[in-house]
Amino acid sequence: MPELSEHKQQQIAMHKEVAEMYRRRAGYAFAQDFQEERNALLMALLPQEREARSLDLGCGTGITLNDLARRFRVACGIDLSHEMLTGFVGRSADANGKVLLLRGDMGKLPLQSNAFDVILCRSALHHMDDEVAVLTEVCRILKPNGRLVLGEPANDFPLFRLARWIAKRGKSYGKIHTIDRAYTRGQLRAMFARAGLAVERETRFGFIAYALCDNPDLVPILKKLPAGLARGIGAVLRAIDRVLAHVPLLKNWSWYTMLDVRRADAATARR
Ligand SMILES: C[S@@+](CC[C@H](N)C(=O)[O-])C[C@H]1O[C@@H](n2cnc3c(N)ncnc32)[C@H](O)[C@@H]1O
Repeated sequence: MPELSEHKQQQIAMHKEVAEMYRRRAGYAFAQDFQEERNALLMALLPQEREARSLDLGCGTGITLNDLARRFRVACGIDLSHEMLTGFVGRSADANGKVLLLRGDMGKLPLQSNAFDVILCRSALHHMDDEVAVLTEVCRILKPNGRLVLGEPANDFPLFRLARWIAKRGKSYGKIHTIDRAYTRGQLRAMFARAGLAVERETRFGFIAYALCDNPDLVPILKKLPAGLARGIGAVLRAIDRVLAHVPLLKNWSWYTMLDVRRADAATARR
């Protein structure tokens, strides 16, 4: 791999710890339930074409890669971190297509132009030092009618902005998370526009359950309870979150957002 910037080397170092955190998280049923619900919502934004070629950008331990393999002919995952990639456990039994894993940089994708029908990028964009460069690469490798589905921390609610500011001062900052990096709706749309992309749909996600279930190391409340009780509380909190995600105005104050994005030239041509 070519020489990496200091930012990218820091990302590799941090994700050695994150890979461990992901392994620990897999041991908590309430956290797994939460991840599965988020993944199902992301997958619901993707098309159903079995012949499609899909890419999981910044795939990490491949938490969504088996879902892509189940649905599409090709599921390719790319990530910079060796430790994250080695955390991937393939489930070939129910796969529709083949899985390819690549170690590489999202800012300079070693992939041909117009190669993918579907690109999924879950929680990876905010780890980039130049998001527009990455999104420009996405636009290049996406087929004209291809789809990018992106999941990212949202930063529209002032109280959550304050919580992120406080977390940045915590001990684990830069080791297992960088949660101060998150985008407002306006910031995301501006970055897409600069990269030649346009948003078609948005799903808001994560209010109370997000804070307690996404990263049990960061907010260690449920992991201290008996497993069954923690799982039950997690289920109740997720049900409350599902309601909040439909309340006008309030729904814009979620911790997380999911976007269905197209190439701007294709979106214009369809109108
Ligand atoms: C928070 S993790 C998300 C992983 C996975 N998508 C998920 O949702 O579990 C962010 C991922 O981005 C990867 N990453 C950071 N910088 C990268 C880069 N320049 N190119 C490729 N992957 C990168 C990290 O190694 C890490 O696996």
